[in-house]
Amino acid sequence: MTTIADKIILALDVPTKKEALALVDQLREQISFFKIGLQLYTAEGPEIVRAVLSKDAKVWLDLKLHDIPNTVARAVESASNLGVNMLTIHLSGGSEMIRAATAARTNNITILGVTVLTSANEQTLREIGIADRVADQVLRLAKLGVEAEIDGIVASPREIKKLRTEFGNKIKIAVQGIRPSWAEPGDQKRFMTPRQAAEAGADYLGIGRPITTHPRPREALAKILAEVTT
Ligand code: C5P
Repeated sequence: MTTIADKIILALDVPTKKEALALVDQLREQISFFKIGLQLYTAEGPEIVRAVLSKDAKVWLDLKLHDIPNTVARAVESASNLGVNMLTIHLSGGSEMIRAATAARTNNITILGVTVLTSANEQTLREIGIADRVADQVLRLAKLGVEAEIDGIVASPREIKKLRTEFGNKIKIAVQGIRPSWAEPGDQKRFMTPRQAAEAGADYLGIGRPITTHPRPREALAKILAEVTT
């Protein structure tokens, strides 16, 4: 059975291996899934992935790959060999790139597709020649991903329901932009509480600063787990 603790993924958005592993050590008893993104991976490379995996933890490598199909396929192979559990690609790379990625999966790796980044708005789409509304572009890219056998989609909280209605349980949905009721929103403008996101049907909740910048991360995580369970 999947528990709420299995759904929560801590974003290790810190600059060094030392800080990342300190967080994993503090929180590993409560959760087992950690996200390594561009900042930490660029600083510490595959060694940080191996170090987190060696704590009997799972790793989401959030590199948002977007390149020619062959290069993306080879990077998927490298991530699979490293033992990463989940990896992200940009669906705007097109169906050939997505297919190259899904065909290169080994070791049970899950590939999630990014549609439109939550930092982008209609103006951003216009700049790059897309005349559609953000919501329509999200759905178009998600469909492209599903047709090319993507395992899941990275979504903003307010897209969960629509994606679930469209694709049922064929895909995993990972959301970010989660703010517990007691946390500062920070730069997050469109957020949901962990409970709302879980109830809306998210499979994974990626959470960073509400836990990592809290003076007592274990306590922050315990409060989140309690908030979703009760
Ligand atoms: O804001 P927070 O620190 O909880 O973000 C956790 C992760 O979610 C970060 O790695 C960030 O890249 C990602 N994120 C996102 N979309 C947002 C906000 C954050 O993908 N709107």
